[in-house]
Amino acid sequence: MQADTTLFATSLDAAMRLQPTEPVACFAPCDLLRQYERFRSGFDGLVTYAVKANASPMVLENLCGFGMRAFDVASPKEMRAVREVCPGADLHYHNPIRGTDEIAEARHLGVRSWSVDDPGELAKIAPAPGDEIAVRLALNVPGAAYDFGEKFGVGPAETIELLQQVQRSGATPSLTFHPGTQCRAPEAWERYIITAAQIARDAGVTLARLNLGGGFASDRDGAGDGLEQTLSAIGRSARSAFEHPPELVCEPGRALVAEAFTLVTRIKARRGTGAVYLNDGLYGGLAEMRDMPTPRRVRVFAPDGAERLGPPEQMPVFGPTCDSVDRLPPETSLPGDCREGDFVLFSGMGAYSLALSTGFNGFGLNRIATVRAGLAPVTVDARPIPANLRGHSSEASHDI
Ligand SMILES: Cc1ncc(COP(=O)(O)O)c(C=O)c1O
Repeated sequence: MQADTTLFATSLDAAMRLQPTEPVACFAPCDLLRQYERFRSGFDGLVTYAVKANASPMVLENLCGFGMRAFDVASPKEMRAVREVCPGADLHYHNPIRGTDEIAEARHLGVRSWSVDDPGELAKIAPAPGDEIAVRLALNVPGAAYDFGEKFGVGPAETIELLQQVQRSGATPSLTFHPGTQCRAPEAWERYIITAAQIARDAGVTLARLNLGGGFASDRDGAGDGLEQTLSAIGRSARSAFEHPPELVCEPGRALVAEAFTLVTRIKARRGTGAVYLNDGLYGGLAEMRDMPTPRRVRVFAPDGAERLGPPEQMPVFGPTCDSVDRLPPETSLPGDCREGDFVLFSGMGAYSLALSTGFNGFGLNRIATVRAGLAPVTVDARPIPANLRGHSSEASHDI
C-alpha cells in the first residue's frame, strides 16, 4: 500500500495534483471523526469498530486517537493490526468460527470476549471465569442488503440453551446479533432487542452486555443514512424491553468508515460504442458495486478539474481486468460528455473497498492519500494549501 505523505485539501485536489493513473483512496480523518461523534452522541453504550470494514493502519490509528478502546476482530491478523496501533484496546473476537490455533493465538493476544453460536465452538473456547461469551442470535428480519443470519447465529431456543451453558461454565453471558449489513430498517434492531429481552428472561440469565452488531447503513444513494433514527429506536426499545437494560455495545464497520473515503478512479478509454473502461472495478475498490450501487454519489471531472455536467447517460462501465464480470451494474450512468483521462470520483467508499480489493490481473486499489486531515493524529507533510485550492477545502463538503 502506497500512502502519500502530502495533505490534500480535498479528493479533487488530490486528483488534480497527483494526476494519478492508478486508483487512489482519499482518506478524510475529519469525516471518520464526524461519524464516530454521531455514534457517540446518539448511542447510549460502548461504540466499537468492526475492523473488517477497513483495516488500514491510518483508520485504526485515528479511531484510537479519537478515544476508541474496543474493536470487533475476526482473525488474529486483525487482532495484531489493532495491537500495533492501540496496544491496550479490548478485542471482541466476534467471528463465531475459529480453529484451535486461532483460539490459542487470540488468548495470547489478550482476547477475553468471544461470540458463539454452537455448543462445539463453545467447547473449543473452554470458557473460564473472566471470559465474556456473547451468544449470537439470528432472526429472520428484513431490511438489510444481505441476510447475515444464513451463515451465523442461532434461533431463540438454541440461544437460551447456549446462554445457560455459558452461565454454568462460570463465564459472563452476553448476547449479540447482526441484522445484516446496510440495514435501513430500525425495526430490525427493535425486533432483535425485544426478542433478546424475552430470551434472557426465559433462560433465567442476566445479560452482562447486549451487542447490537454492525449493519448500520451508510449513505449510498445521496439520501442520507438515517443513523440518528436508528440509534434512537435502539435506545427506546432497550429501555422498554428490559427492566434493567444490559450495557449496550455496537460494532459498526460500514457506517463508521464509509464516509471517510472517496475513491478517485480514472477513465482509461471511452469507446465509440459509448462504453467506459475505468482503472478500477469489481476486483478492486468497487467490489460492492454490483450488489450495492451508489448511483447518486458519483461525479466526473476533466483532467483540469472542470466538472463534467452533461446529461447523465446509461453506458456500460467496465473495470480494468480482462474479466467481463468486471462491470458496474447496467443502470450506472455517467455524464454523457465524459472522456478518456477524466476522473470519476465515488463518495462514501471507505467500507469494504480497500478491504476487498484484489490484485487480479495486476490491478487493484493500492494507494491512499490523506485529505483535510484536521484533528487527525496521522503523519502528514502539511504543506500549505495553495490559495487557489483553499476554496475547495472550506466550501467542499465531504463529497469531494
Ligand atoms: C460480527 C460482525 N460485527 C460487525 C460487522 C460489521 O458490519 P457492518 O459493516 O455492516 O457494520 C460484521 C460484518 O461482517 C460482523 O460480522
